[in-house]
Amino acid sequence: MDLQAIVDGIVAEMQPRFGEGKVADYIPELARIDPNQFGIAITTVDGQTYTAGHADVPFSIQSISKVFMLTLALGKAGEGVWKRVGREPSGSSFNSIVQLEHEHGIPRNPFINAGAIVVTDMVLSGYKPREAIGEFLRFMRFLADDDSITIDHKVAGSEQTTGYRNFALANFMRGFGNLEHNVEMVLGVYFHQCALAMNCVQLSHAGLYLANRGTNPLSGFSVVSPKRARRINALMLTCGHYDGSGDFAYRVGLPGKSGVGGGILAIAPGKASIAVWSPGLNKVGNSALGSEALELLASRTGWSVF
Ligand code: DON
Repeated sequence: MDLQAIVDGIVAEMQPRFGEGKVADYIPELARIDPNQFGIAITTVDGQTYTAGHADVPFSIQSISKVFMLTLALGKAGEGVWKRVGREPSGSSFNSIVQLEHEHGIPRNPFINAGAIVVTDMVLSGYKPREAIGEFLRFMRFLADDDSITIDHKVAGSEQTTGYRNFALANFMRGFGNLEHNVEMVLGVYFHQCALAMNCVQLSHAGLYLANRGTNPLSGFSVVSPKRARRINALMLTCGHYDGSGDFAYRVGLPGKSGVGGGILAIAPGKASIAVWSPGLNKVGNSALGSEALELLASRTGWSVF
C-alpha cells in the first residue's frame, strides 16, 4: 500500500475546501488562527512517517491532551481512576454540566471537560501545579522524541481569562467532593496541558504507543501494558468525539480524540498512529475536514477496526 500516495491524494481532495467549518472562538487566541490550513501525518508501527499539507505547523492540541493525561493518571492511580470518573459516552457536548448534578459530581468519561478536569486533579496529586505541567511536558517530549515541543502560554492565558464554563464545572465538582485541589490550581494545569503546541508529525509519534500494544516502537520503551493500551483505545472510540463519537465510529471506525484547535489523533491498532489538523470545526466541535480526511483514509487503507 502506498501511504504517501494516499496522504497526497487526501490533501489534493481537501484543498478546494480548505477553510470549511468554524474556528473555535470561545478561546480568543484560537479565533486568530488562519482556517486555510490542513495537515496530515501517518506514522506506522515500523517507524515510517508519511506527511502531506501543513504537517509541520504547530497547533494547539487542546482536548487531545486528555488522552495523555489519562495515561499519566492511570499510571499513578491505576484502576482507582474509575472511582471518580466514568467510562460511558455522555451524548452531551464537551463542556456540558447537565449530567453532573444527577450523577453526584462524577463525570461520565475522562474526555469531556468535567472528566478531564478530574483526571488533571489526580495527576496534580503530590505536585505543585508547575511541577505537574512540567511532568506533562516532559512526557509529551519523551513520547514524541522531540524536545522542541512547548506550551503556548498565550493560549493558556487566553483560556484562563475566558474559561467560565470550566470554572463552573470545576466548582460544581469540588462542591461534590470530587476535586482534591482548589479550582484555580487544577484549571491552571488543565489550561496549560490544553495549550500544548504540536504539529501533526510530533502528534503521530506521540500516539504510537497506543497503536503498538503500549510500547513506543521508535524507542522500544513500554509506556503502558497492552491491556491498558487496548482500554484507552476503547475509550477513545466510544467517547473521544463527545456527542459526535457514534458518527465518527460509523464513518471512520478508528479510536480517535479531537481537540477544538482542529486536531484529531486517530489510532489504527497494530498499524499506525495518525494526526490530522484543520482548524475549522463542525457543529459538535470536531475538525470538519479532519474528520472527513480520516474517513477517506480509513476507506483507502481498510484500517477500520470493524
Ligand atoms: O476546556 C476547553 O474547553 C478546551 N481547553 C478544550 C476543549 C476541546 O478541545 C474540545 N474538543 N473538541
